[in-house]
Amino acid sequence: NDIRGCSRGSLIVLEGLDRSGKTSQCGNLLAYLQGKGFSVEAWQFPDRSTSVGKMISAYLANESQLDDRTIHLLFSANRALMENKLKSGTTLIVDRYSYSGVAFSAAKGLNIEWCKAPEVGLIAPDVVVYLDVPPEKAAERGGYGLEKYEQLDFQGKVAEHYHNLLDSSWEIVDGSQSIESVERQLKDLAMHSILTCQRGKPLTNLWS
Ligand code: TMP
Repeated sequence: NDIRGCSRGSLIVLEGLDRSGKTSQCGNLLAYLQGKGFSVEAWQFPDRSTSVGKMISAYLANESQLDDRTIHLLFSANRALMENKLKSGTTLIVDRYSYSGVAFSAAKGLNIEWCKAPEVGLIAPDVVVYLDVPPEKAAERGGYGLEKYEQLDFQGKVAEHYHNLLDSSWEIVDGSQSIESVERQLKDLAMHSILTCQRGKPLTNLWS
């Protein structure tokens, strides 16, 4: 796949409301890219396997209470640095990233610039795909309502904040289409991003 052997991997981020289909699509994309012989890993934030991730998980399950600023900072602290992985040539497919951090906390009323501050300097994604599903439609999907933020009113506010964050570099994919159609678009976007990175696109930082 990479004839020069020294090019970097691509940072591909999927964002969207709860139950927008991100997690399944990340899995499908991983299998597809692995099948093509790429070095690729799928990551997920929050990463619930770490000690900070376990605190986040307990909070989301309503088993513990934390104030809004504290949980925001825990989500930030949970975002591992990806630079070495990418530089070693591995592509990362990431299920949620800093945009979730900002959109969800801002939807609670926290100041947007304050929300971004702990994430300044993290590696910026090469492509952010927003799986666009109306909150009402996401709420009809299986398992909805199990975690703290899966409330229709709240998800509506999160959607507004996502829309304020997105810029022309984001790829908006209609998540209400068939799974196969979403999958096809993601494959094309991922392949394009991987090839652009292999051709020498530089890494940049978030919110700068
Ligand atoms: P998950 O369902 O993708 O595991 O995410 C759990 C919840 O955490 C989801 O409602 C989105 C929220 N979240 C934040 O509030 N801030 C963050 O930084 C991240 C990554 C997720």
